[in-house]
Amino acid sequence: MDKCRPLRWDGEALVLLDQTKLPGEVAYITCCNHEQVAAAIKEMKVRGAPAIGAAAAYGLVLGAREACQRADFWEALLDVAERLRRTRPTAVNLAWALERMLQKAERASQDPEEALKLLTEEAAAIALEDVEVNRAIGRHGAPLLPEDGGVLTHCNAGALATVDYGTALGVIRAAVEMGKKIRVFACETRPFLQGARLTAYELKADGIPVTLITDNMAGYVMGRGLVQGVVVGADRVAANGDVANKIGTYSLAILAREHGLPFYVAAPLSTVDLATPDGEHITIEERDPTEVSHLAGIRIAPEGVDILNPAFDVTPAKYITGIITEKGVVKPPYDRGLAALFRK
Ligand code: MRU
Repeated sequence: MDKCRPLRWDGEALVLLDQTKLPGEVAYITCCNHEQVAAAIKEMKVRGAPAIGAAAAYGLVLGAREACQRADFWEALLDVAERLRRTRPTAVNLAWALERMLQKAERASQDPEEALKLLTEEAAAIALEDVEVNRAIGRHGAPLLPEDGGVLTHCNAGALATVDYGTALGVIRAAVEMGKKIRVFACETRPFLQGARLTAYELKADGIPVTLITDNMAGYVMGRGLVQGVVVGADRVAANGDVANKIGTYSLAILAREHGLPFYVAAPLSTVDLATPDGEHITIEERDPTEVSHLAGIRIAPEGVDILNPAFDVTPAKYITGIITEKGVVKPPYDRGLAALFRK
């Protein structure tokens, strides 16, 4: 398995690259039941909106297989879907993938074996489509990047966060494939360090020049003219264009505006949630305080101090220059532009 591919279905089980061990160790875990998949998503062994959607789809396949002989197969299937859905609340791809899977299973009339077959096919389709979608996002986004210049990114919206290729990093990859000379500045992304551990790892593996900075260096980098734009991924895009993405994205968008730099969001339509009117309606996941109080297992804050650990923030649509999707680049006003994409 490619060392930047986060998941693979081996016909019986879901094999996940354990992203909590990167970059030090390339280790895999084999999930043989839905509970193992749910735990892996919760613990962020697999993470990134499209990747957790695909992983959850296979988790539902495993759950269907576990429930196949039960008289209450359909109730059990819904319970498994709910268990998987609750693991992480912000990235809508998780709920999107599970909903798509359940709709497919409904076509099996009452036969659990038939449902299992359909679910297995659908999970494979979700995984395959994700890669095609990311390549299309790359094709639409690459022309927006400079011919020769720096691009800032945050968190990891790359191959590791999807099934392959990536969204924000897909745009960067496509630009490099076009012959553009791009230097990436990757924010380390405290507290979970996806930028340092994952983005730097996968860009280095691809030979794309990458410079790692701590999150508080972004203003310095922009002020010095080291980057000509910002491109990030998304966990949920609301109907009005507000974007939930990794904590710190909002500050970067404001910095970009102050420095007159374009701020792009790259996301598949599976991340666009027209049922959520705006960012205020997006549930923000709160994670374990020890992610903030500790660094690599070492306590860095006094015992007993209050800690806030939201995993995401919302960037208001007014700071976003364009949303790059597989169907094209949407510009403001986003409410009309995003809705039109679904009619295309
Ligand atoms: O908490 P994570 O690591 O799952 O957060 C990931 C992000 O915020 C990504 O930017 C987003 O999911 C887009 S991935 C293509």
